[in-house]
Amino acid sequence: MSQKQRLELTWIGKEIRPKLEPRILLEDPDKSYHADHRMSENDSFDNRLIFGDNLLALKALESEFAGKIKCVFIDPPYNTGSAFEHYDDGVEHSIWLSLMRDRLEIIRRLLSEDGSLWITIDDHEAHYLKVMCDEIFERHNFISNIIWEKADSPRMDAHFFSTRHDHILVFAKNKKKFVINKISVNEEGLAKHYDKVDDAGRPYYLKPLRAMGGDDSREARPTLFFPLTAPDASDVFPIRKDGSEGRWRWSQERTESDQHLIEWIKSRKGWSPYYRIYGDVQSFRPPETIWNHTDVGSNRTSKAEIKTIFNDIKAFDTPKPEKLIHRIIFLATNPNDIVLDSFAGSGTTGAVAHKMGRRWIMIELGEHCHTHIIPRLKKVIDGEDQGGISKAVNWKGGGGFRYYRLAPSLLEKDKWGK
Ligand SMILES: C[S@@+](CC[C@H](N)C(=O)[O-])C[C@H]1O[C@@H](n2cnc3c(N)ncnc32)[C@H](O)[C@@H]1O
Repeated sequence: MSQKQRLELTWIGKEIRPKLEPRILLEDPDKSYHADHRMSENDSFDNRLIFGDNLLALKALESEFAGKIKCVFIDPPYNTGSAFEHYDDGVEHSIWLSLMRDRLEIIRRLLSEDGSLWITIDDHEAHYLKVMCDEIFERHNFISNIIWEKADSPRMDAHFFSTRHDHILVFAKNKKKFVINKISVNEEGLAKHYDKVDDAGRPYYLKPLRAMGGDDSREARPTLFFPLTAPDASDVFPIRKDGSEGRWRWSQERTESDQHLIEWIKSRKGWSPYYRIYGDVQSFRPPETIWNHTDVGSNRTSKAEIKTIFNDIKAFDTPKPEKLIHRIIFLATNPNDIVLDSFAGSGTTGAVAHKMGRRWIMIELGEHCHTHIIPRLKKVIDGEDQGGISKAVNWKGGGGFRYYRLAPSLLEKDKWGK
């Protein structure tokens, strides 16, 4: 075979590319909104809300923002076939792939070298989308497929499985430059397993000093098999559950130098040594790939948040919980970085980014840009939105945004509309 081949996803119409007429963005100052005074030095007033189709809007952003966006979060229509109140969620599979591809290619150009893309999606398209992103971002820039527990209880009417999760695909623009923030154990309230405090009030937990799992036998590390003296002066050896000889985690020298960290616990089987792990020594941990609803909220959480914000109008069908977006923005950005969401929905990304001191750009095509996003952001700016993450970040209001729409096409249409 002479033709060069490569592994790729193909679909009907993949080779067809839209001809994009560059458009400019026009601000409508009547719809822009700003706090009437500064709340802090870090208030950001130049956030952008763009009303219009995201393909044209992303293209319009390119001249100013190429290489400048630190994090893109998108929650596109999942293509489930549902007809939601505010948008249609069912297009032919190939059409969906083409429209995502066209947008993701521009998104990649907008990302900074150390930037990352986060996409929520479910089983209808997740695996196709992953392969397509491999092609656009290059496979070695794939970071993770996070499982978000979107449901907090089973659905009794499920035909086969009651689906409990969505996927969050994470890609770096350039994996070598991408740095992920670590989760603060204390900040996330995950100090639960630091269940003890020492005399100085420092939290810690205990871990068995005997090695467990993998190479935990005496044979594997003979020098780590030696007796330790228990409080009753007896010798204790590392013995595995099945009665065979095991090994300690520490060398003999370390058991002497770090003796102050060792605690002895007596059970029916006798004395066992444990060692202390302090919260302030290991207070940051890498994020894990399963995100439970108890930590980041579920669809039920976001529906309740939306009801509180829009008590007088029809709530939005498919919002994401603020804590989920907070986790993503926290991991992917630092204060003042720019976050972009080109499928803005009810505006959760902008609301959360704003409260976290990040700059943001949102694009939304539906009328809910006016009925939901603008009122939501006004409440945030006025400090009236005390739901979602507001209390956790001590949100008091401030900043603002500019509202834009796409300038009309400059191309003259002939009588057939071509
Ligand atoms: C699943 S919702 C996003 C929900 C959002 N994450 C939230 O928390 O409210 C997807 C949104 O993408 C919008 N959308 C779909 N196609 C679009 C397009 N071509 N341009 C701009 N927005 C689009 C829909 O109108 C819908 O509001």
